[in-house]
Amino acid sequence: MAYNLLKGKRGIITGALDENSIAWKVAVRAKEEGATFTLTNAPVALRMGKIKELAQQCNTEVIPADATSVEDLENLYKRSMELLGGKIDFVLHSIGMSPNVRKGREYGDLNYEWFMKTLDISAMSFHKMLQVAEKLDALNEGASVVALSYIAAQRTFPDYSDMAQAKAMLESIARSYGERYGRLKKVRVNTISQSPTRTTAGTGISGFDVFYDYADMMSPLGNATAEECADMCIVLFSDLTRKVTMQNIYHDGGFSSMGISPQVVEKLSK
Ligand SMILES: NC(=O)c1ccc[n+]([C@@H]2O[C@H](COP(=O)([O-])OP(=O)(O)OC[C@H]3O[C@@H](n4cnc5c(N)ncnc54)[C@H](O)[C@@H]3O)[C@@H](O)[C@H]2O)c1
Repeated sequence: MAYNLLKGKRGIITGALDENSIAWKVAVRAKEEGATFTLTNAPVALRMGKIKELAQQCNTEVIPADATSVEDLENLYKRSMELLGGKIDFVLHSIGMSPNVRKGREYGDLNYEWFMKTLDISAMSFHKMLQVAEKLDALNEGASVVALSYIAAQRTFPDYSDMAQAKAMLESIARSYGERYGRLKKVRVNTISQSPTRTTAGTGISGFDVFYDYADMMSPLGNATAEECADMCIVLFSDLTRKVTMQNIYHDGGFSSMGISPQVVEKLSK
């Protein structure tokens, strides 16, 4: 159901690779809610993924940008403002990648070059997106910027490896930049801590199926789907959340507040 929550708003959506991507679902919902936006992803993802199909469906364009490149991000904002006809009202950061996870390195044997890459791609890119926006004065007053996080920022999930540090840094950037941008231009900056979700990034973590099922069993409402995450993003982009900023919002069916659930007790009872 659409409510016109983003009518007249202009946005930038990163990270849509294929129809499983959380960003893909956000784009579809943002269109339904009346927004216009550009799509972006790393040049390599444009070759491998299906983002062009999504652009057609949303009647928009794809602007290639490696989120670690300040120059690419400057071009992204400038082109987006040109194409959309004004400053930007919402930005989705939906970007994560760890070469250490991808190449199966143990946490006690991390490659530090790759660790730096993990942090640059998955966390520092969020600061870059905010800093470039501020310097170009690319965001409208009251704009909303959202990044996607995971509870491994607070609790240990061994297979999540150096991505845990990246998510902790991402959430910290939301607080620090949220203070700055709120004071300067009433811009909101938040992270959404999402349940395990079957996407390319998600299923790249070894043991994904087990922690998907475990989280589902632990959560009174069950795991939140990618579509439900998109709904949460829309609410944060909308004017209904004008005073919500510097928060990490758990969108996880209650998982983050649980100790143990009856389902887990039953499963482990001898
Ligand atoms: N899937 C899950 O279980 C889960 C849970 C919580 C949070 N998240 C987070 O949600 C976000 C989106 O991931 P997803 O699950 O939709 O998977 P996804 O694989 O569909 O999306 C990740 C995106 O990051 C992009 N990316 C990687 N390197 C990039 C770079 N240098 N520049 C620009 N883009 C780059 C990829 O091309 C891809 O589109 C990530 O931040 C992820 O950590 C995912």
